[in-house]
Amino acid sequence: MTGSAEDEVRLQKVLARVGLGSRRACEELIADGRVTVDGHEATLGDRVDPAVARVEVDGVPIGIRPDLVHYLLNKPAGVVTTADDPQGRPVVVDLVPAEPRVFPVGRLDMDTEGLLLLTNDGDLAHRITHPSYGIEKEYLAEVEGEPARGALRRLREGVELDDGPTAPATVGRVGPSLLRIVVHEGRNRQVRRMCEAVGHPVRRLVRTRLAELSDPGLPPGGWRALTTDEVRALERSVADADDRR
Ligand code: URA
Repeated sequence: MTGSAEDEVRLQKVLARVGLGSRRACEELIADGRVTVDGHEATLGDRVDPAVARVEVDGVPIGIRPDLVHYLLNKPAGVVTTADDPQGRPVVVDLVPAEPRVFPVGRLDMDTEGLLLLTNDGDLAHRITHPSYGIEKEYLAEVEGEPARGALRRLREGVELDDGPTAPATVGRVGPSLLRIVVHEGRNRQVRRMCEAVGHPVRRLVRTRLAELSDPGLPPGGWRALTTDEVRALERSVADADDRR
């Protein structure tokens, strides 16, 4: 699928636009046979409609169409992860540009802080949130009390919750009451329920990483657009998960 003639752009221009190098460097990628369009090896002179063509370099989708935006937000506590709250509470979409309309990928509780992805890229969003892709999410959890080794072991091996046992997680101690917890699932209030189940309710929860995305310098309430490399890395994470499925 290459779209209508007036929407078509030279392939090297599309590649250059998403940060793959100068037009000349992108022509070389094409000449070296590293670029495919809708599954077919591209040739110099090809024109594509970037809004519909699936362009891959070395088998990795270029990930950015001009109509797609991807924002990384450092969600503050007290903001609801939704596009519209009937109760009129502050919502995450009010913290990023209004146009084009984006929606949050996955969910952080109202009291949870930290990294949240917002996008209008429905396909990527679906694959990041779908449990079968097992995308990693890392949290810092400040808990009540000082969890002993047994509690950490239980968190790692899986704890019984009312919707079933949790999958193995990576859990490390950062301070006496501060845990770093990496989960692959995304169940409702999962980290809070896990910590509660081992007798150490969460006092403060911050998501510090989503797949490879992290940004310790992003202030609470701040957002930035993902870089091309970050979008490509996310595409690669879900593509790798596709291979494992
Ligand atoms: N786990 C939780 O308990 N809350 C979140 O917001 C995210 C993960």
